[in-house]
Amino acid sequence: MRAAVLNTIPGQLDIEEVQIGSPGPREVLVRVAAAGLCHSDLHFMEGKYPYPTPAVLGHESAGVVEAVGDQVTYVQPGDHVITCLSVYCGNCENCLTGHLSICTNAASTDRAPGEPPRLSRDGEPVWQFIKMSSFAEMMLIHEHGLVKIRDDMPLDRAALIGCGVTTGLGAVFNTAKVEPGSTVAVIGCGGIGLNAIQGARIAGAGRIIAIDMLPNKLELARQFGATDVVNAAEGDPVQQVLELTGGGVHDSFEAIGLKVAAEQAFNMLRSGGTATIIGMIPVGQNIELPGASFLREKKIQGSNMGSNRFRVDMPRYVDLYLDGRLKLDELVSARITLDQVNQGFDAMKTGSVARSVIVFD
Ligand SMILES: NC(=O)c1ccc[n+]([C@@H]2O[C@H](COP(=O)([O-])OP(=O)(O)OC[C@H]3O[C@@H](n4cnc5c(N)ncnc54)[C@H](O)[C@@H]3O)[C@@H](O)[C@H]2O)c1
Ligand SMILES: [Zn+2]
Ligand SMILES: [Zn+2]
Repeated sequence: MRAAVLNTIPGQLDIEEVQIGSPGPREVLVRVAAAGLCHSDLHFMEGKYPYPTPAVLGHESAGVVEAVGDQVTYVQPGDHVITCLSVYCGNCENCLTGHLSICTNAASTDRAPGEPPRLSRDGEPVWQFIKMSSFAEMMLIHEHGLVKIRDDMPLDRAALIGCGVTTGLGAVFNTAKVEPGSTVAVIGCGGIGLNAIQGARIAGAGRIIAIDMLPNKLELARQFGATDVVNAAEGDPVQQVLELTGGGVHDSFEAIGLKVAAEQAFNMLRSGGTATIIGMIPVGQNIELPGASFLREKKIQGSNMGSNRFRVDMPRYVDLYLDGRLKLDELVSARITLDQVNQGFDAMKTGSVARSVIVFD
């Protein structure tokens, strides 16, 4: 099958022929219908997070089940599914208390050492990126890495729920538990931030302040539910938010992956407020906070994949979309082919797109 392979870091992706195995007992072979480009893929391509090579990138996808292993009863060939990198073991303390996205034994869903790899190239193993590898015609994943969805859900838009939508909405609903009427700020209005904004809208936030440096992103943010916009290129965003709100927000979300933006998220809180960090701050970087702020009960927390329970959350998001309450059409700025994947990441770097989605035939 054809796949987009990361061979060198930093580097671009090469479209190559890669071999995929047949399903082991608890594995599912999925024919990929669509795969979104997420900034997390780009962080790995740029070396901000380490990863072994060669690896097939991509992790935000939806498709149709092609074949299942002999112990799989949850899905059958022909089922429509969304994949999720929060592949859970189902047995650890975090899984058993509903925190699947921070499963401590997800490695148990990988193939055991000594077994043939799921992906290979000319007899040599190829790394499966974060248990997914969606930039390929087929995926071979553990059954705990997918959820069955309604057949009437368009798969190109379903793909976005596989990471960006779940990450943004889940940060608001599951991690921060934003209250109706509260005031929210979202720093970074890309695929993740726009979903945090529409999550805040759905949660009933009273005021939603969107922050970015690009006017086109701020315009999109308004479409997704922002009531106010702040251009961070036109002065300190913290000062602008403190002035707009008369003392800060209840909840702030960092959706870029920058030390400075995480610090801004904390510093724009009102007393008792909570900053939720979604962006992937490069490995090795620390963030600095004014210690005296803790006397004002300001809080800061991380959010991994929207603290999801994805087999519950994702079908709900599908329903919200089909009921007209979740915006996904507006999130797809470009439909591209696998061969155009590098151009898609170039567009992400310039900030001209919300999301590019690879659509397979
Ligand atoms: N925690 C998780 O589980 C999780 C999941 C998916 C993605 N992420 C991370 O979320 C972050 C956002 O991903 P994305 O796909 O939305 O990226 P993106 O590139 O689509 O969006 C980033 C946005 O930030 C804006 N921006 C850049 N610098 C800025 C600054 N200094 N001030 C204000 N705005 C600025 C850009 O203009 C852009 O609109 C990335 O770090 C990604 O790795 C985390
Ligand atoms: Zn992602
Ligand atoms: Zn677990």
